[in-house]
Amino acid sequence: MLHGLRLPQRLLLPIVKCQTITWGRRSLAKDAILPTVLVHGGAGHIDADKVECVKFGVKQAAQRGYKAMLETGSTLDAVEQAVMVLEADIHFNAGFGSVLTQDGNVEMDASIMDGSRLEGGCVTMARNIMHPISLARCVMEKTNYRFLAGDGAMRLAKEEGFEILPKSALITEASQKLLKVFKISNTDTLYNVVPGTVGAVAIDACGNVAAATSTGGLTGKLSGRVGDSPILGAGTYADNEAGAVSATGHGESIMRYNLSSRVLALVRHKDYSIQEAVEEMLQNMTAHFKQTGGLIAIDHRGQLGIYFTTELMSWAYQQGNELHCGVEVGEDEVVIVDDDT
Ligand code: GLY
Repeated sequence: MLHGLRLPQRLLLPIVKCQTITWGRRSLAKDAILPTVLVHGGAGHIDADKVECVKFGVKQAAQRGYKAMLETGSTLDAVEQAVMVLEADIHFNAGFGSVLTQDGNVEMDASIMDGSRLEGGCVTMARNIMHPISLARCVMEKTNYRFLAGDGAMRLAKEEGFEILPKSALITEASQKLLKVFKISNTDTLYNVVPGTVGAVAIDACGNVAAATSTGGLTGKLSGRVGDSPILGAGTYADNEAGAVSATGHGESIMRYNLSSRVLALVRHKDYSIQEAVEEMLQNMTAHFKQTGGLIAIDHRGQLGIYFTTELMSWAYQQGNELHCGVEVGEDEVVIVDDDT
């Protein structure tokens, strides 16, 4: 079985019936929440001739995620499907398009979290599969554990019917070229000169949130290096009481700052707006570690936060029939999409 939508029966309820769902899922809020799927395609640099492709990719992902949420009523499906679109797109550093380790291999990290149950799944050092995000979901749904690495994660992938690709299948000309540049450039990282990690956050009309993040990590990383993306609280977090966050940028800084958790703590305990929270936490992290990054977030009321301290970050969201996207500070392109897209 290839992994796409795997729907437990309880999630097949239409969105309008969510007030009847039990075990901690929210009932309809007094103030209407607009269902939204927000994605990022990584913070960093985007070559001018790639900007349109990258914008197309993030818009496709937001639309796919939104459609999944309408079809299944599940924000978890929304973020998984959105991230799968980006993992299959060569323009992003995740799945196909992942950057290479020092040895020229692909080692991917991913995590996914359901804010209605504080459930999560994480994988690191995933190899030879297109969709590490679906493997992270499998860890959450099919095992008693919440984080699997390397050979153990790959054994689960085989058992669960993931397509195991030839070793070279995820290695692209672009990633090989980047590794060459890295090896002669005498720098410790190239994370801020290429589009980075991908991620998605979503909220439904009942305030159920989810988050997902997937990455190839850093060009030229040591084999075995683990970034922030598979770490709940750092690269990914979701809690119906506060919101959902996905991070991109310098993993060693994001994990030490516990960036996603800090953002949601400000919303929950200090009454910050989500935009104020992402700005303050990312500015503080950047000032402290002299490393940059980006964040997308949705709070429990459905408000959005989008911010980056890198040169650019691609993002897009769908809310109703509005599809927004941007890559530069202050940019917000809007198109109206058909109901059936
Ligand atoms: N933020 C992705 C990484 O550092 O691996």
